[in-house]
Amino acid sequence: MPDFPSPELRRVVVLGTGGTIAGKAASSGDNIGYTAGQVGVADLLGGIEAPQGVTLVAEQVAQLDSKDMSFETWQKLAQRCAHWLAEPDVAGVVVTHGTDTLEETAFFLHSVLACAKPVVLTCAMRPASALSPDGPQNVRDAIGVALAAGARGVTVVCAGAIHSGADVQKVHTYRLDAFASGDAGVVGYVEEGEVRRVRAWPEGGALPASKIFEAAAVQWPRVEIVMSHAGASGAVVEALLQPGNAEPVRGLVLAATGNGTLHHALEAAALKAQEAGVAVVRATRCMNGRILPKADDRLRDAGTLTPVKARIALMLELLG
Ligand code: SIN
Repeated sequence: MPDFPSPELRRVVVLGTGGTIAGKAASSGDNIGYTAGQVGVADLLGGIEAPQGVTLVAEQVAQLDSKDMSFETWQKLAQRCAHWLAEPDVAGVVVTHGTDTLEETAFFLHSVLACAKPVVLTCAMRPASALSPDGPQNVRDAIGVALAAGARGVTVVCAGAIHSGADVQKVHTYRLDAFASGDAGVVGYVEEGEVRRVRAWPEGGALPASKIFEAAAVQWPRVEIVMSHAGASGAVVEALLQPGNAEPVRGLVLAATGNGTLHHALEAAALKAQEAGVAVVRATRCMNGRILPKADDRLRDAGTLTPVKARIALMLELLG
């Protein structure tokens, strides 16, 4: 572990939300048949030594399988991050999280927190009960990033790599090194607790976020993702916009092919939705690259954002 950045920054706060990192299986040889979110975050820190002079503070924010992540948990997590980051002696915040929606939570926090200190999400692909779990090393590495001099913004640490909360995507169902940052590349690496940075720390907080921190309960606008594919039609969009739906759809993200193209039938339905006042955005289904806008585009595009991230950006825009 490196020396902590200044003698005043004596605490690293570790917020637990569940995931495989906190998962348990009946047998140590079972890396897939486990229940996520079983081990408390304080126990996850059990074998981890903090550098001299640094105190680790554990706080359980949630205990869930991240496929079930809720907006309420996101709001609470953002509020707890903001609370701890404002404490003068806190160097940074680590969040333990499931891998399945990690990129969504990371992008959400990246969007709403303008942090001059680091918020480092980490995870595991093997449960805590595994013969050789990857969680403890990932947590140790994440603490190293939280303590690194100059570290800032929302990052994800997994398998020795540091990803920006804006660019990270889960790209593998099973391997321990399950995340990638696409064209942007990683922010750096953690090697024996030392950070080797290869590009700038991410800058976040560009989207309006005051309601997340001020309101007790946020009315999250309903934004749905509809995919364009061979044989697509306008039926899903039309069904979503049926009058009388309990919660009206305020936004649509179209998971578009290639450079933002849509099946003509889906496009026609989406244009009608836009005319009716629904916010419509195209995001590419491609893993890498961005949508290059064209002069005659009638539906705006989400640039480099994947459909799940474009949905979060649109929800925050509609909230703002
Ligand atoms: C989860 O996302 O909570 C379960 C899967 C994982 O963490 O790898």
